[in-house]
Amino acid sequence: MKAAGLQVPVIAIDGPTASGKGTVTALVAAELGWHVLDSGALYRLAAWTVLDKNIDANDIAAVALAARRMDIRFEGSRIWLANKDVTKLIRQEHVGNLASRLAPAAPVREALLNRQRAFRQAPGLVADGRDMGTVVFPDADLKIFLVADIHARAQRRCQQLRERGIEPDEQAVLADLKERDARDTERAVAPLKPADDAHQLDSSRLTVEETVAAVLSLWRKLQRSG
Ligand code: C5P
Repeated sequence: MKAAGLQVPVIAIDGPTASGKGTVTALVAAELGWHVLDSGALYRLAAWTVLDKNIDANDIAAVALAARRMDIRFEGSRIWLANKDVTKLIRQEHVGNLASRLAPAAPVREALLNRQRAFRQAPGLVADGRDMGTVVFPDADLKIFLVADIHARAQRRCQQLRERGIEPDEQAVLADLKERDARDTERAVAPLKPADDAHQLDSSRLTVEETVAAVLSLWRKLQRSG
Protein backbone atom coordinates (compact mmCIF):
# COMPACT_ATOMS: atom_id res chain seq x y z
CA MET A 1 0.00 0.00 0.00
CA LYS A 2 1.27 3.42 -0.90
CA ALA A 3 0.92 6.31 1.51
CA ALA A 4 0.45 9.00 -1.15
CA GLY A 5 2.92 11.84 -0.93
CA LEU A 6 4.59 10.59 2.26
CA GLN A 7 7.19 8.33 0.74
CA VAL A 8 10.18 9.35 -1.34
CA PRO A 9 9.23 8.45 -4.95
CA VAL A 10 10.77 5.39 -6.59
CA ILE A 11 10.98 4.35 -10.23
CA ALA A 12 11.76 0.62 -10.37
CA ILE A 13 13.47 -0.66 -13.53
CA ASP A 14 13.68 -4.45 -13.69
CA GLY A 15 14.65 -6.76 -16.48
CA PRO A 16 17.02 -9.46 -17.67
CA THR A 17 20.80 -9.21 -17.96
CA ALA A 18 22.05 -6.78 -20.63
CA SER A 19 18.62 -5.30 -21.33
CA GLY A 20 20.16 -1.84 -20.93
CA LYS A 21 18.72 -1.22 -17.45
CA GLY A 22 21.91 0.24 -16.01
CA THR A 23 22.34 2.90 -18.68
CA VAL A 24 18.64 3.79 -18.76
CA THR A 25 18.52 4.00 -14.94
CA ALA A 26 21.52 6.34 -14.79
CA LEU A 27 20.12 8.63 -17.50
CA VAL A 28 16.60 8.77 -16.05
CA ALA A 29 18.06 9.57 -12.60
CA ALA A 30 20.32 12.27 -14.06
CA GLU A 31 17.36 13.85 -15.86
CA LEU A 32 15.26 13.93 -12.66
CA GLY A 33 18.18 14.73 -10.31
CA TRP A 34 17.45 11.55 -8.31
CA HIS A 35 19.60 8.88 -6.65
CA VAL A 36 20.48 5.56 -8.28
CA LEU A 37 20.41 2.05 -6.84
CA ASP A 38 22.39 -0.50 -8.87
CA SER A 39 21.16 -3.51 -6.89
CA GLY A 40 23.19 -5.93 -9.04
CA ALA A 41 26.32 -4.24 -7.66
CA LEU A 42 25.35 -5.43 -4.16
CA TYR A 43 25.10 -9.04 -5.36
CA ARG A 44 28.43 -8.60 -7.15
CA LEU A 45 29.98 -7.14 -3.95
CA ALA A 46 28.77 -10.20 -2.04
CA ALA A 47 30.32 -12.45 -4.69
CA TRP A 48 33.57 -10.50 -4.61
CA THR A 49 33.67 -10.80 -0.81
CA VAL A 50 33.19 -14.58 -1.05
CA LEU A 51 36.11 -14.85 -3.49
CA ASP A 52 38.33 -12.40 -1.63
CA LYS A 53 37.81 -13.98 1.78
CA ASN A 54 37.86 -17.55 0.49
CA ILE A 55 34.39 -18.27 1.84
CA ASP A 56 32.81 -21.55 0.77
CA ALA A 57 30.11 -20.41 -1.70
CA ASN A 58 27.98 -23.42 -0.70
CA ASP A 59 27.94 -22.32 2.95
CA ILE A 60 24.98 -19.98 2.55
CA ALA A 61 24.91 -18.93 6.23
CA ALA A 62 28.54 -17.78 5.97
CA VAL A 63 27.89 -16.02 2.66
CA ALA A 64 24.84 -14.21 4.09
CA LEU A 65 26.78 -13.16 7.20
CA ALA A 66 29.61 -11.78 5.08
CA ALA A 67 27.08 -9.94 2.85
CA ARG A 68 25.46 -8.41 5.93
CA ARG A 69 28.82 -7.23 7.26
CA MET A 70 30.19 -5.69 4.06
CA ASP A 71 31.55 -2.19 4.59
CA ILE A 72 30.36 -0.53 1.36
CA ARG A 73 30.52 3.06 0.15
CA PHE A 74 29.00 4.29 -3.12
CA GLU A 75 30.58 7.55 -4.26
CA GLY A 76 29.20 8.76 -7.59
CA SER A 77 30.13 6.01 -10.04
CA ARG A 78 32.81 4.53 -7.75
CA ILE A 79 32.22 1.66 -5.33
CA TRP A 80 34.39 1.07 -2.27
CA LEU A 81 34.54 -2.08 -0.17
CA ALA A 82 36.43 -1.72 3.11
CA ASN A 83 38.26 1.31 1.65
CA LYS A 84 39.32 -0.53 -1.51
CA ASP A 85 38.08 0.74 -4.87
CA VAL A 86 36.36 -2.34 -6.34
CA THR A 87 34.43 -0.54 -9.12
CA LYS A 88 36.14 -2.46 -11.94
CA LEU A 89 36.86 -5.67 -10.03
CA ILE A 90 33.18 -6.47 -9.44
CA ARG A 91 32.37 -6.03 -13.16
CA GLN A 92 34.45 -9.07 -14.13
CA GLU A 93 32.45 -11.87 -15.77
CA HIS A 94 33.37 -14.49 -13.17
CA VAL A 95 32.17 -12.19 -10.36
CA GLY A 96 28.84 -11.62 -12.14
CA ASN A 97 28.51 -15.34 -12.64
CA LEU A 98 29.07 -16.12 -8.97
CA ALA A 99 26.65 -13.30 -8.04
CA SER A 100 23.97 -14.99 -10.12
CA ARG A 101 24.71 -18.32 -8.40
CA LEU A 102 24.44 -16.79 -4.91
CA ALA A 103 21.36 -14.69 -5.72
CA PRO A 104 18.79 -17.55 -5.45
CA ALA A 105 19.60 -18.05 -1.74
CA ALA A 106 16.93 -16.45 0.48
CA PRO A 107 19.37 -15.62 3.36
CA VAL A 108 21.64 -13.75 0.91
CA ARG A 109 18.72 -11.76 -0.50
CA GLU A 110 17.48 -11.03 3.02
CA ALA A 111 20.95 -9.79 4.04
CA LEU A 112 20.87 -7.24 1.20
CA LEU A 113 17.24 -6.11 1.53
CA ASN A 114 17.59 -3.25 4.01
CA ARG A 115 20.76 -2.01 2.36
CA GLN A 116 18.78 -1.61 -0.85
CA ARG A 117 15.85 0.13 0.87
CA ALA A 118 18.28 2.60 2.49
CA PHE A 119 18.91 4.09 -0.96
CA ARG A 120 15.40 5.57 -0.91
CA GLN A 121 16.41 9.14 -0.22
CA ALA A 122 14.87 12.47 -1.26
CA PRO A 123 14.23 13.75 -3.83
CA GLY A 124 13.76 10.30 -5.40
CA LEU A 125 15.31 6.98 -6.41
CA VAL A 126 15.65 5.10 -9.67
CA ALA A 127 16.32 1.45 -8.75
CA ASP A 128 17.74 -1.07 -11.21
CA GLY A 129 17.50 -4.83 -10.68
CA ARG A 130 15.43 -7.98 -11.00
CA ASP A 131 13.02 -7.65 -8.06
CA MET A 132 12.81 -3.88 -7.47
CA GLY A 133 9.11 -3.67 -8.33
CA THR A 134 8.11 -7.03 -6.86
CA VAL A 135 10.05 -7.35 -3.56
CA VAL A 136 12.32 -4.43 -2.64
CA PHE A 137 9.99 -1.53 -3.51
CA PRO A 138 6.54 -3.07 -4.05
CA ASP A 139 5.07 0.42 -3.52
CA ALA A 140 7.25 2.02 -6.25
CA ASP A 141 5.41 4.85 -8.02
CA LEU A 142 6.39 3.61 -11.48
CA LYS A 143 7.51 0.10 -12.41
CA ILE A 144 9.21 -0.65 -15.70
CA PHE A 145 10.02 -4.12 -16.96
CA LEU A 146 12.66 -3.58 -19.61
CA VAL A 147 13.11 -6.40 -22.09
CA ALA A 148 15.06 -6.85 -25.32
CA ASP A 149 15.41 -9.93 -27.47
CA ILE A 150 18.31 -12.15 -26.58
CA HIS A 151 20.27 -11.41 -29.77
CA ALA A 152 20.03 -7.64 -29.21
CA ARG A 153 21.23 -8.19 -25.62
CA ALA A 154 24.11 -10.42 -26.76
CA GLN A 155 25.18 -7.75 -29.26
CA ARG A 156 25.16 -5.12 -26.51
CA ARG A 157 27.16 -7.32 -24.13
CA CYS A 158 29.75 -8.00 -26.91
CA GLN A 159 29.99 -4.27 -27.60
CA GLN A 160 30.59 -3.58 -23.87
CA LEU A 161 33.37 -6.20 -23.83
CA ARG A 162 35.00 -4.69 -26.95
CA GLU A 163 34.93 -1.26 -25.29
CA ARG A 164 36.87 -2.85 -22.44
CA GLY A 165 39.45 -4.21 -24.91
CA ILE A 166 38.19 -7.82 -24.75
CA GLU A 167 37.37 -9.62 -28.03
CA PRO A 168 34.20 -11.57 -27.17
CA ASP A 169 33.31 -15.13 -28.11
CA GLU A 170 29.79 -14.36 -29.36
CA GLN A 171 28.46 -17.90 -28.92
CA ALA A 172 29.78 -18.04 -25.35
CA VAL A 173 28.18 -14.66 -24.56
CA LEU A 174 24.83 -15.89 -25.91
CA ALA A 175 25.05 -19.14 -23.95
CA ASP A 176 25.95 -17.25 -20.76
CA LEU A 177 22.97 -14.88 -21.15
CA LYS A 178 20.60 -17.83 -21.65
CA GLU A 179 22.00 -19.53 -18.54
CA ARG A 180 21.61 -16.36 -16.43
CA ASP A 181 18.09 -15.74 -17.72
CA ALA A 182 17.13 -19.27 -16.74
CA ARG A 183 18.68 -18.95 -13.27
CA ASP A 184 17.05 -15.54 -12.65
CA THR A 185 13.57 -16.50 -13.86
CA GLU A 186 13.39 -20.03 -12.49
CA ARG A 187 14.56 -19.42 -8.92
CA ALA A 188 11.98 -19.85 -6.18
CA VAL A 189 12.80 -16.65 -4.26
CA ALA A 190 12.28 -13.24 -5.91
CA PRO A 191 12.39 -14.57 -9.48
CA LEU A 192 12.79 -12.18 -12.37
CA LYS A 193 9.25 -11.36 -13.48
CA PRO A 194 7.24 -8.21 -14.12
CA ALA A 195 5.20 -6.88 -11.21
CA ASP A 196 1.44 -7.01 -11.94
CA ASP A 197 1.41 -3.23 -12.28
CA ALA A 198 4.65 -2.95 -14.34
CA HIS A 199 4.86 -1.33 -17.76
CA GLN A 200 6.67 -3.64 -20.15
CA LEU A 201 9.07 -1.82 -22.47
CA ASP A 202 10.84 -3.62 -25.32
CA SER A 203 14.09 -1.83 -26.15
CA SER A 204 15.20 -4.23 -28.94
CA ARG A 205 14.56 -1.62 -31.60
CA LEU A 206 14.86 1.53 -29.50
CA THR A 207 17.94 3.67 -28.96
CA VAL A 208 18.98 4.41 -25.38
CA GLU A 209 17.62 7.95 -25.80
CA GLU A 210 14.25 6.65 -26.99
CA THR A 211 14.04 4.22 -24.07
CA VAL A 212 14.87 6.96 -21.56
CA ALA A 213 12.28 9.25 -23.19
CA ALA A 214 9.65 6.48 -22.91
CA VAL A 215 10.32 6.06 -19.17
CA LEU A 216 10.25 9.82 -18.54
CA SER A 217 7.05 10.17 -20.52
CA LEU A 218 5.37 7.48 -18.36
CA TRP A 219 6.60 9.25 -15.22
CA ARG A 220 5.32 12.66 -16.36
CA LYS A 221 1.99 11.19 -17.38
CA LEU A 222 1.68 9.66 -13.93
CA GLN A 223 2.46 12.99 -12.27
CA ARG A 224 -0.15 14.79 -14.36
CA SER A 225 -2.77 12.19 -13.45
CA GLY A 226 -1.79 12.14 -9.75
O1 C5P B 1 22.64 -6.70 -12.76
P1 C5P B 1 23.91 -7.48 -12.59
O2 C5P B 1 24.29 -8.31 -13.78
O3 C5P B 1 25.05 -6.62 -12.13
O4 C5P B 1 23.60 -8.48 -11.38
C1 C5P B 1 24.42 -9.56 -11.07
C2 C5P B 1 23.56 -10.74 -10.66
O5 C5P B 1 22.88 -10.46 -9.44
C3 C5P B 1 22.44 -11.07 -11.67
O6 C5P B 1 22.84 -12.04 -12.61
C4 C5P B 1 21.30 -11.58 -10.80
O7 C5P B 1 21.33 -12.99 -10.68
C5 C5P B 1 21.57 -10.99 -9.43
N1 C5P B 1 20.61 -9.95 -9.06
C6 C5P B 1 19.46 -10.32 -8.42
N2 C5P B 1 18.58 -9.37 -8.00
C7 C5P B 1 18.81 -8.06 -8.24
C8 C5P B 1 19.97 -7.67 -8.93
C9 C5P B 1 20.86 -8.64 -9.34
O8 C5P B 1 19.21 -11.49 -8.21
N3 C5P B 1 17.93 -7.16 -7.81
